[in-house]
Amino acid sequence: MRTLNGKVAVITGGNSGIGYATAKKLKEEGATVIITGRSDKKVKTAANELGVQGIIADVSDLSAIDSAVSQIKKEFESIDILFVNAGVFVPMPVGQNTEEGVDTLININFKGAVFTIEKFLPILNDGGSIINLSSINAYTGMPNTAVYGATKAALNSYTRAAATELAARKIRVNALNPGPIATPIFSKTGMSDEQLKGMGDMMQNRIPLKRYGRPEEIAEMVAFLASDKASFITGAEYNVDGGLNVNPIFAA
Ligand SMILES: NC(=O)c1ccc[n+]([C@@H]2O[C@H](COP(=O)([O-])OP(=O)(O)OC[C@H]3O[C@@H](n4cnc5c(N)ncnc54)[C@H](OP(=O)(O)O)[C@@H]3O)[C@@H](O)[C@H]2O)c1
Repeated sequence: MRTLNGKVAVITGGNSGIGYATAKKLKEEGATVIITGRSDKKVKTAANELGVQGIIADVSDLSAIDSAVSQIKKEFESIDILFVNAGVFVPMPVGQNTEEGVDTLININFKGAVFTIEKFLPILNDGGSIINLSSINAYTGMPNTAVYGATKAALNSYTRAAATELAARKIRVNALNPGPIATPIFSKTGMSDEQLKGMGDMMQNRIPLKRYGRPEEIAEMVAFLASDKASFITGAEYNVDGGLNVNPIFAA
């Protein structure tokens, strides 16, 4: 049975990786899906491939989020599911954090997420579901992720308070903490192939299940949290990380 029949879902950063896989999954479950993204070409291509609506909206630009909300309100009136997924990874070692890097991470991963929620709230139906895409980096202390992880920890904290406040409208707010998932996010950092391989080998070795996750494995959790199957779940966080957060000192 399809679990999201009749629901309207918005996915930020839906043209790639986890957002793309989730758009596919939510559509399969019967939802009408709208993806957003910052690149006109990429959003159009993905929307065509997926057979969903695509809207250009950079989440670090508040007026762009306003325009997306107006457009969606005009066409769909209201929405039921908001997947706050858009994000970037900017690896920086402590002592070499740049102002530009910190601004980018905060503006997209935290401020962008907060204002996506603020601005979509008026058109989010009572009883709706917000799912925030955080990261296991909020907890792991992995080198080069001090600021990236902090933006995700901030998002998790925001999730808890938002869940208590929005409960009055029966809106559920939850967060997902993926471990390393095979998406283009890492190659967008400007790291060389050799650096990417080194980081990949290191992480893979540390994950108890000994592999990266697939975007579809996160999409499954989003579909669950978006559905009535998760009707008593709010203010929660789920690690989907192959056991990485168990952080074994002696991995087999
Ligand atoms: N992959 C992982 O290992 C992993 C682990 C934990 C958490 N996450 C989180 O998962 C989310 C999705 O990442 P992903 O791995 O699927 O990476 P991805 O394939 O790079 O997808 C990220 C999406 O967000 C979009 N985006 C970035 N900045 C944006 C902005 N300012 N406005 C609108 N859209 C923007 C990207 O657009 P472009 O295609 O134009 O860049 C892309 O569509 C992120 O929040 C990330 O932090 C990922």
